[in-house]
Formats: sequence, structure tokens, C-alpha cells
Amino acid sequence: MVEDKVLNFFLVFSLLWLWANAKVELPSDSLKPGDVLNISDKLCSASGNYCMQFDVTDVTYLQIIQTSGSWVIWTANRDQPSLNYSGVLTLDYSGTLKITRQHEEPITLYNSTQGTNISSIATLFDSGNFVLQELYPNGSVKSTLWQSFDYPTDTLVPGMRLGVNGRTGQSWLLVSYESDESPASGAFTLEWEPTSAQLIIRRRGQIYWASGILKNNKFECISEQVQDMYEYNVDNDSFSYTPQNGEYVQYWALYDSGKLADSQKNEIASADQCYGYNTDAGCQTWNIPSCRHDGQTFNTLKGEIKGQYNTTVVPLDTSLRTMSDCEAACWNNCDCVGIYSFSANRIGCISIHGDWEFTSSDDGESFRMIMPKPSEHNGRKKKILVGAVVATILFILCVGIIWLIQKIRKEKRRTMETGRNLRVFSYASVMKATNGFSLDNKLGEGGFGSVYKGKLQMSIEVAIKRLSSFGVLILEIVSNQRNNRFGSLVRHAWELWRDGMGLKLLDPAINVDSFVQDQVLRCIHVALLCLEELAFDRPNMSEILSMLTNENAILSLPQNPAIDIGGRDNVEENETPAIRYTDTRNGLTISNMSAR
Ligand SMILES: *[C@@H]1O[C@H](CO)[C@@H](O)[C@H](O)[C@H]1NC(C)=O
Ligand SMILES: *[C@@H]1O[C@H](CO)[C@@H](O)[C@H](O)[C@H]1NC(C)=O
Ligand SMILES: *[C@@H]1O[C@H](CO)[C@@H](O)[C@H](O)[C@H]1NC(C)=O
Ligand SMILES: *[C@@H]1O[C@H](CO)[C@@H](O)[C@H](O)[C@H]1NC(C)=O
Ligand SMILES: *[C@@H]1O[C@H](CO)[C@@H](O)[C@H](O)[C@H]1NC(C)=O
Ligand SMILES: *[C@@H]1O[C@H](CO)[C@@H](O)[C@H](O)[C@H]1NC(C)=O
Ligand SMILES: *[C@@H]1O[C@H](CO)[C@@H](O)[C@H](O)[C@H]1NC(C)=O
Repeated sequence: MVEDKVLNFFLVFSLLWLWANAKVELPSDSLKPGDVLNISDKLCSASGNYCMQFDVTDVTYLQIIQTSGSWVIWTANRDQPSLNYSGVLTLDYSGTLKITRQHEEPITLYNSTQGTNISSIATLFDSGNFVLQELYPNGSVKSTLWQSFDYPTDTLVPGMRLGVNGRTGQSWLLVSYESDESPASGAFTLEWEPTSAQLIIRRRGQIYWASGILKNNKFECISEQVQDMYEYNVDNDSFSYTPQNGEYVQYWALYDSGKLADSQKNEIASADQCYGYNTDAGCQTWNIPSCRHDGQTFNTLKGEIKGQYNTTVVPLDTSLRTMSDCEAACWNNCDCVGIYSFSANRIGCISIHGDWEFTSSDDGESFRMIMPKPSEHNGRKKKILVGAVVATILFILCVGIIWLIQKIRKEKRRTMETGRNLRVFSYASVMKATNGFSLDNKLGEGGFGSVYKGKLQMSIEVAIKRLSSFGVLILEIVSNQRNNRFGSLVRHAWELWRDGMGLKLLDPAINVDSFVQDQVLRCIHVALLCLEELAFDRPNMSEILSMLTNENAILSLPQNPAIDIGGRDNVEENETPAIRYTDTRNGLTISNMSAR
């Protein structure tokens, strides 16, 4: 027995030892002459920040990936994918670096002209640069023959440059992907313009955006907040940046929409918001048809399109097949009202003409429709809408709870003739009883460009009635551009409360004697606080809970609910206005809630 254990111990130990040693030897960061990187191999930089490998999906690309964020910073063959699920990167003795493929021409990354045996090495450095170097016989570096930083894709990492390569005269620029799914060269480019010392974004040659002059390490037209994070380096007609806070791996990416953003999703340039008529934030102007004017933008709508419209298919096999090409074509055609893509990888599109209506749904198809520009207040309204929904739900919940408490109390009275004992049913226990009023504070994550106003499909009164009978409750905020019935409901509630008639908000079917008026008024009061115009005046969820459970807590007085009033805009971005609140037989769920 004892011997067995010792044996086991040694077995485990040796396995561990083998594993540890194998691990040390595993991915190397360089190729020597004669080495190959095959389709299932990986070449990683010394620190492991970056790895080079083949991406084999429908087609095969050789890519360098930033490992922590799984972001592809470089693609060797973006416009020459391997169709045959094959690819081997080789470095031969003459110093030629190429990708060989079955049944397809090899792709030469570096063609050595020496033809003879030279000593070379291809290394993936911790900067993300894959460099082919010629070595002296003693092993020290003689020269750099080729580097991936000279052939940027759509991503700029620190140390990479934009501008003109003084040595070869070739220019360094970013070219966006065709679509999220396809790394092929797309429509937008980011260049450094040395004579005017500006960054420029073009779409098929047309200048859409310019950074403005660089002065004191700041570009005129890029938000200060973003720029505080970077230090720019301009020398020999080239541009590069260094993150001020160099702890994490950083990159700038030019998206297929024309947006330039960093790895933290900070927008550096929004060329996707340039329409030819506007000059805000670096947008440039160009000739557009007179039917397109200030006030119109493309908006993403999800759902179903209806109405008397016709469609035209923009064929896939044209060179102008990205979504931005479709949008530009639509923008230049006065009959066109919007577009959508027919393919999963968002290449190729259908343009829409004529009258249209829209039914929104979160899981619907995605459309890009030309619509009047959202007004200045929409961002704020969106937030208010979310606040209003929270308030309404709370309000309904609160009234429902009181009703329930009263009902149970009455029943208790009837059965036991005991006194009132309201505290038996805490807010929390009723929350639990309602099984899934998951009012978590989670912020929505959507990022549609457009802003929706809400439509409440049911009056508050009906909702209360439904809730109080614990039947089916459907409170759905439908994205709808015109209807603002919800806003007027809220205003009406506020006015009633202000005029001391808050109790009128209750369903007339609820017996006035069956509840404690102060409690109901307190609920309404809290709900109205949730509708305050400024976010920091609104209570958060824990404050709301304390207000509702602690009857002695002093409440501030609600001001005007911010439905139609102008004011300071302190909206967090990326809030999802679409809120779905449905009941299936056995419970209620609320998703995408935002308390403030
Ligand atoms: C790739 O190379 C590794 C060794 O480097 C080998 O074990 C593996 O079988 C090769 N795979 C293919 C598909 O050739
Ligand atoms: C590779 O592609 C060619 C044509 O592109 C085709 O004829 C051949 O059968 C393919 N081979 C494999 C192994 O898929
Ligand atoms: C590589 O260079 C040789 C000699 O200069 C030339 O014949 C060959 O066509 C080149 N190959 C490629 C793929 O450029
Ligand atoms: C180049 O050098 C390697 C090793 O030094 C040797 O194996 C190979 O045969 C040489 N090739 C030529 C073409 O000289
Ligand atoms: C290696 O050789 C080259 C040229 O022969 C020389 O310039 C260099 O200093 C040498 N490096 C080392 C580390 O010996
Ligand atoms: C700029 O060019 C000069 C002369 O061509 C060169 O000596 C210098 O190293 C270059 N600087 C950079 C950062 O490339
Ligand atoms: C749609 O196409 C039909 C047939 O080409 C045409 O008669 C009609 O006017 C078009 N409708 C719109 C809204 O463009």
C-alpha cells in the first residue's frame, strides 16, 4: 500500500515535471531559416501579448492577434485569402518569407534578392511587430529586411507609424475592413498628411474627416478627454502615438463604418457622422444633392419595415459593396430612404424607395434609414424615458404591494380578527413573492445610433389592475418615433400630485378604505422623484428601497418632471432605451433596466 502511494506520487510528480518543461519550450517567438508555421501552429511574442496564427473559417488568413482582447491587429493576406483551408508560413535559406498554399499561388511577404544562403530570423516582438532581420555570422543584427508594421491593416498600435516611409517612399495608412466579418480592404482610410500635419479619414478618396492642426500635443477636432491619454510623436513625415498610461495594451482601430476608436472604445474620430453638410468635430463638406440637408442622418432601426416601398438590390459583385458604399449611393439618390443588408456578413445591400413605416423589435432585422436628425434633447429624453419607466414600474409595484398588503390584512382580520400588522409583509418579502421583479441596476448595453421615444401600450390604471390581480402584465416600451403618450401620462401624474389629487391616480376599482393613503402618496412621491430632470437628483435603487421601507425617511420635494423641458444634458452613452417588460404565466421579468 505504502509503496503504491509513493509510486503514484512519483508518477504525478514526473508528469508535472514533464508538463512544466514542455510548457517552457512551447511557442517560440521566431522562425529560423527552414522553419515553418503551419495552419495549427502558433508563434507568440516573448511576453505572450501577441500571437501569430492562421485563422481558418470559410477562408484562411494569417493574422497577429492581441491576446488579451482577442483583437486582430494585422492580417498578412487580407485581400488574398486562402480558399483551400491551407497555409504554411515559411522562411527559407535565402531569406524569403512567404505563405505557401495547396493549389494556390504562394503569397510572398518578402522576396529576397540575394538568392544565396543568408542568415536571417523572423521574430514576433512584444510590440506586435513581426520583423525579418538579416544577421551577421556572429548572430548580431545586420539589417531589417521586412516588418509587418510597414503594412498596416486597420489597426494602429503604439510604435506603428502613419505617413510616408522615407526609405522606400511607400505610405503607411490604415484601411478599414469591408465589414465586421471580412478583413478585405474596405472603403475608409486613415492617413497622416505631413504638409498640413493632420490626420485625415477618406472614404473612397473623398475626405470625410480631418483632425485639425496639431498644437501642443492636441489636435483641434479630437475631444480633449481622449487626447489626454496619448502623446503624439511626429518625425520624418510620420505620425505615431504613445499611451500616457502604458500599463495595458492599446490600439486604435478604423472601423468599417468610418469611426476611429481606441481599445477602450473612446471615439477619436466619427467619420460615420459626416454627411457632407456638417462641419462638427472635424467633418468636412462635399457636394451632395440638394434633397439632402442638415437634419437628415442615417439611423439604425431594428424590427420590421412596412408600407408602400420598393427595393433595389445592389449587387454583391461590384467593387462598391460595403455598407458605407450602399449608404453613400443611397445618400446621393433622392428617391432612396434607407438600406439594409441581405447577407449575414453585411456585404451587399438592398436600397429602399417610397413610403415606409416601422415596427420595432429587438430581435428584428437591422435597417439603416434616412431620418430627420434627432433633436438635441433626445439623449436626455432617452434617459428620462428610462427613468420614467423605472418610476412607473416602481409606482405600479408599490401600489400593488399596498393593495396586496391590504387584501391580506383584510383576510387576516376576517379569519383571525387580529389587529393590524403591516410590518409582517416587508417590501422585500413581497418583492420575493412576486418572483422575479429583478430590478437590478444594470445599464443597458445597446448602441443603436438612433433614439426612441416610448409608447406605453397600457394605461397605468390598467397595469395596476393587472398587477394587483397578479395576472398577466405587459408593459412594453415600443420604439416609436412619434408617439409620446407616455410622457403626457407622467406629466398628468405629476400635475395631479402637485394639486393634491395624487390618489386619483389609483384604479377607481380599488376601495379607498382598503389602503393607507399616506403609503400610497409616499409611493407616488418616490415615483415622481425618479422622474427628476437631473440624474443626480434622482434616487438610486438602494435609496428607493430605503424610502419605501422606512416610513420616517424624509423625502425631498419633486420638481417638474423633465418631460418637455430643456436642461443640462448629462447622459451616459450607450443606454438602451428599448425596455421589455413582459410576464409569462409564472413570473415577471424586466430586462435592460437602468435606474439613473
Ligand atoms: C504542424 O506542425 C506541428 C509541429 O510543429 C505538427 O505537430 C503538426 O502535425 C503540424 N500540423 C499540420 C496540419 O501539418
Ligand atoms: C483547391 O482549390 C481548387 C480551385 O480553387 C480546387 O480545384 C481544388 O480541388 C481545391 N483543393 C482542395 C484540397 O480543396
Ligand atoms: C522574387 O524575385 C525574383 C528575382 O528577383 C523574381 O524572379 C520573382 O518573380 C520574385 N517573386 C515575387 C513573387 O515577387
Ligand atoms: C544553407 O545553409 C544550411 C545550413 O547552414 C545548409 O543546410 C543548406 O544546405 C545551405 N543551402 C544552400 C543552398 O547553400
Ligand atoms: C558581429 O559582427 C559584426 C560584423 O562582423 C560586428 O560589427 C559586430 O560588432 C559583431 N557583434 C558582436 C556582438 O560581436
Ligand atoms: C529621420 O530621418 C533621419 C534621416 O533620414 C534618420 O537619421 C532618423 O533616424 C529618422 N528618424 C526616425 C525616427 O526614423
Ligand atoms: C414601385 O415600383 C412600381 C413598379 O415599378 C411603380 O409603379 C411604383 O410607383 C413604385 N413605387 C414607389 C413608391 O416607388
